[in-house]
Amino acid sequence: MTGNAYTIEQYAKDLRQIAKECSSEDEIISRVAPLAQRLALNKSWLLPEHFNAGSEQGFGVHLLHEEADHSLPVFAVSWLPGRGAPPHDHGTWAVVAGVEGVEKNTRYKRVDDRNRADYAKLEVKEAFDAAEGELVCMKTGGIHSVVNESNKVTLSLHTYGMHVNYTERSQFNLETNEKKDFKVQIE
Ligand SMILES: [Fe+2]
Repeated sequence: MTGNAYTIEQYAKDLRQIAKECSSEDEIISRVAPLAQRLALNKSWLLPEHFNAGSEQGFGVHLLHEEADHSLPVFAVSWLPGRGAPPHDHGTWAVVAGVEGVEKNTRYKRVDDRNRADYAKLEVKEAFDAAEGELVCMKTGGIHSVVNESNKVTLSLHTYGMHVNYTERSQFNLETNEKKDFKVQIE
């Protein structure tokens, strides 16, 4: 290994330091983002099995690291061609860095009055392609959807404040305005 390789272990150590030193999500995200980008471009950690994704879910979630309390998880997430995730939030901050291929992201804003637990009306804010080394950052409450419009499996590196199956978070149906829990299957 050369001296400039950046490992998951080193990244996890950096994440712990950042979490300890920062009091705001803006600050955390601004410090995590360049490191996530570095790890995404470095790829020394990337294994063939990280591209595995079940056809039922449409994407494969591979846990690379988390702390004992499920904070600061790092996932490799692979996306089957033509598949994606519905609009969702995370219940924590999120930093996503492209590793292989191009993933279309759409950001939404919530426009209803939040008076009903199972209802949410969303409006599209922006849609953009995230390619290798490009970042998608969201604070708690940020809503996006992801789709792989290419004909090859894509992969991105996801870092969160807390493992997303241990936060309160939702998926949103744009047609029915239904809001419900969003848990993902881990490979
Ligand atoms: Fe997400």
